Amino acid sequence: MTLPEHIAIIMDGNGRWASKRFLTRSAGHKAGGDNLRKLAERMNAEGFKYLTVYAFSTENWNRPAEEVRGLMSLMSDYIDRYIKDSKKNNMRICVIGDIGKLDQVLRDKIEHLTELTKNHQGMRITFAINYGSRDELVRAARKIAAAAGSGRLKPAEIDEKRFSSYLDTYDMPDPDIVIRTSGESRLSNFLLWQLSYSEFFISPKLWPDFGFDDLMEAVRSFNNRDRRFGRVDGSKA
Ligand code: FPP
Repeated sequence: MTLPEHIAIIMDGNGRWASKRFLTRSAGHKAGGDNLRKLAERMNAEGFKYLTVYAFSTENWNRPAEEVRGLMSLMSDYIDRYIKDSKKNNMRICVIGDIGKLDQVLRDKIEHLTELTKNHQGMRITFAINYGSRDELVRAARKIAAAAGSGRLKPAEIDEKRFSSYLDTYDMPDPDIVIRTSGESRLSNFLLWQLSYSEFFISPKLWPDFGFDDLMEAVRSFNNRDRRFGRVDGSKA
């Protein structure tokens, strides 16, 4: 079986998982974070190369202040744990999104962890934090306009490849698969450019219950699909 090079996941359903158990939403996010750690470690051990997860969207600021605080503190604890374990698992940790809007302490931790793991050869796990695809595209457009305005870039030189190089994901391949848990079928402003040709898998499981076997079901189904990239014969341009 061929392993897809890059898997993206929209981790949905923490809130529903918690309310089924009469727990707080924050307890649901905690269970979601624990599940992510377990799944990422297993994927790393099995030789997966890239995993990108939607941890906090630009729209998530609209949730109740207590839930936002809980998510931020969870991410901070999560990063501490990754800093501690970074040598052991050899994973490379990256972040996409506008982290300029995060608390300085959290930003410093993120920068420390990305620097600490930048030469690691294990799976690259990318957390989308304060990430929104439209925001990313607008930030890219600003950088392109600035480069064109200063004469460093000619409008005619802007093609798809050049455009991609201004996105947060400039140094990674596009995801082959995007998985969304909890039965919803929306992209919710996640990687709109990068998911143009990705296969979509919707799992009915709530995120804290989504395990490695569920992931492999998506991988098997990916292997059986015929990705044509708009062509007839399936060969990539
Ligand atoms: C959606 O569940 C999930 C999120 C808004 C955040 C995803 C965060 C995690 C899995 C936890 C932590 C991540 C890190 C990196 C520590 P929801 O609250 O929308 O669920 P619901 O739709 O059932 O209410």
